[in-house]
Amino acid sequence: EQAQDLAGKRVLVTAGPTQETVDPVRFFTNHSSGKMGYSLAEAAAKRGASVTLISGPTQLAAPAGVKRVDVVSAEDMLQAVLSVYDEQDIVIKSAAVADYRPVQTSDKKMKKQAGNLIIEMERTTDILFTLGQRKQHQFLVGFAAETDDAIAYGLGKLERKHLDAICVNTVGKDGAGFQSDTNEITYLNKEGKNQHFPSNTKQQIAHQILNEILADMEADEV
Ligand code: PMT
Repeated sequence: EQAQDLAGKRVLVTAGPTQETVDPVRFFTNHSSGKMGYSLAEAAAKRGASVTLISGPTQLAAPAGVKRVDVVSAEDMLQAVLSVYDEQDIVIKSAAVADYRPVQTSDKKMKKQAGNLIIEMERTTDILFTLGQRKQHQFLVGFAAETDDAIAYGLGKLERKHLDAICVNTVGKDGAGFQSDTNEITYLNKEGKNQHFPSNTKQQIAHQILNEILADMEADEV
């Protein structure tokens, strides 16, 4: 029997990749399957939370009892997240949001041309940074997908984006990160906690992350 320790809490989870359009048949994206974020949404719902899942394009079905909002681009995700941010208690940003999008998108399929093709890209809005700037009562949790110096980069993001905690995800290892059913993360918080969770199913990792968040929220209240 699952403890209802998130009853009465509103939890927002973002998941999956974003797609940045080039033309009607092409886009830029990344390897995120959505599994980590969907596992978090499912675990939070099972623990009694009222869960909103804002998802980029994935092959996954919405977990039972979760309100799912589908988005495509980083800009769509930003707008969807901002529209529900104020009412949330916990926000977990596990989506792999594009950092760049094409400056121009074409309504018509681009034709092949002689020589190389150069596509100019511009920065998208950093959703998590924006949320950090507007934070009121929310407990704000980011993810950091890193291939090297993971803890140092994770701590940098925790501070720069004004987060309460960050889940550092070393990607590029077997059985962790993008696509796999398992993951391995290190949970860091602003008080200096450094809790490593070795490889486990994304469902188990999700519960471990939620345990840490709840413990930190209780500590904040004291
Ligand atoms: O979906 P899966 O296949 O299960 O894979 C899971 C995962 C590897 C995608 C996930 O565990 C993970 O690490 N997600 C974060 C991926 C990422 O984009 O990391 P980042 O270090 O580039 O971004 C840092 C944080 O800023 C993230 O919380 C991200 O959501 C956020 N961000 C980034 C760019 C942007 N424009 N807006 C953002 O909010």
